[in-house]
Amino acid sequence: MSRPRATSGWRCFATTAPGLEPFLAEELAGLGLSGVKPGASGVAFRGDRTALMRVCLTSRVAHRVLWTLGDVDATSRESLYKGVRAAARWEGLIPPDKTLAVFASVRDAPAFHDTRMAGLTVKDAIVDAVRDARGARPSVSVDDPDVVVRLAVKGARGVLSLDGAGRQSLHARGYRTEAGEAPLRETIAAAMIVASGWDARTPLIDPLCGSGTLLIEAALYAKRVAPGLLREAHGFARWTGHRQDLLLRLTSDLKRATTRRCPPILGRDSDPAMLTLARANTERAGLPSAVTLERGDARAMKNPFPDAPPGVIVANPPYGHRLSDARAASELLNELGAVMRAEFRGWTGCFILPRDNVVRALGLPIIRRWPTRNGALEVEIVTVAVPR
Ligand SMILES: C[S@@+](CC[C@H](N)C(=O)[O-])C[C@H]1O[C@@H](n2cnc3c(N)ncnc32)[C@H](O)[C@@H]1O
Repeated sequence: MSRPRATSGWRCFATTAPGLEPFLAEELAGLGLSGVKPGASGVAFRGDRTALMRVCLTSRVAHRVLWTLGDVDATSRESLYKGVRAAARWEGLIPPDKTLAVFASVRDAPAFHDTRMAGLTVKDAIVDAVRDARGARPSVSVDDPDVVVRLAVKGARGVLSLDGAGRQSLHARGYRTEAGEAPLRETIAAAMIVASGWDARTPLIDPLCGSGTLLIEAALYAKRVAPGLLREAHGFARWTGHRQDLLLRLTSDLKRATTRRCPPILGRDSDPAMLTLARANTERAGLPSAVTLERGDARAMKNPFPDAPPGVIVANPPYGHRLSDARAASELLNELGAVMRAEFRGWTGCFILPRDNVVRALGLPIIRRWPTRNGALEVEIVTVAVPR
């Protein structure tokens, strides 16, 4: 697939979970984009419409891909209203036959005590600007908008963007319509696969696979399937000026770049209900034959690939917040560590765990750790080495 031209183009910002910026920056640099610069919970880049579409289609760790229209003065309602009106030719971006939704976030902003007031001001400024130019205004659709407008206010400054992902964050690939009790965000699972250093040639096992998120992200990675190929709808495709022919060309290039080759990917869980869920999810992701699922206790696992080169064990272990649950979870990690030492010499482990040094329970040397958040939970991705 041809690389996009390095262009000064639009100012863009792809968001992700805090701590995952290095993974996202590597993806963006790999797409040949210019101005790639990690920031807080995201990475800035510059590009044109095609570049934004490519990021939305291919990124495994981005949540949203924003086209930044400009900075606005947020010292008062009036200044925000004026700034938003002046920030764009709104009648071109959101004409009367389109619908919009505005989402605002506000931090340390004396002028705005709640996000609602900031969002309402942006919406008023946009619809007034379109009405003045066209004699009719676009309407609001919070659940299914054509265009998602975002305002992030920090102190006296707001940043105004259109969201190329649309209403749904890119972590929602579409394969997981049901999840287990403590599901892992698809984007974090994808970052773990990269963090593990897996070369997509050796076996990969998730001994506590739950609904199968890590296995599916591993198989997508190995088969070079762009996650956007699984999504039914794309936010940017509802923008004015969208070129469907360009989207079709991009997606057919991406389909051509996929490969059938895939090393063994094995998921195990002691709960049969979880395995049923994981099976349904792998089927929805179009990967039924890439992932093997079997019932089993992680504490009694034998190496099913003794003759293969050392591979990778990934897991999102259960972790309770009550003391008794936390103790049981620690014991499980302890036993899993023992299994890894006995059966998986030379393998690498990659776990997502609470930040309070829970990883010590594995009793394995730590290679690297990345603090992040899974939803509201403060966690870390940790890689460990199993001695040979
Ligand atoms: C936090 S969940 C994993 C969630 C998974 N990453 C997902 O995205 O759905 C932990 C899983 O470990 C399984 N489990 C707990 N103890 C186990 C054991 N001793 N052996 C195998 N599986 C176990 C549970 O059934 C549960 O599905």
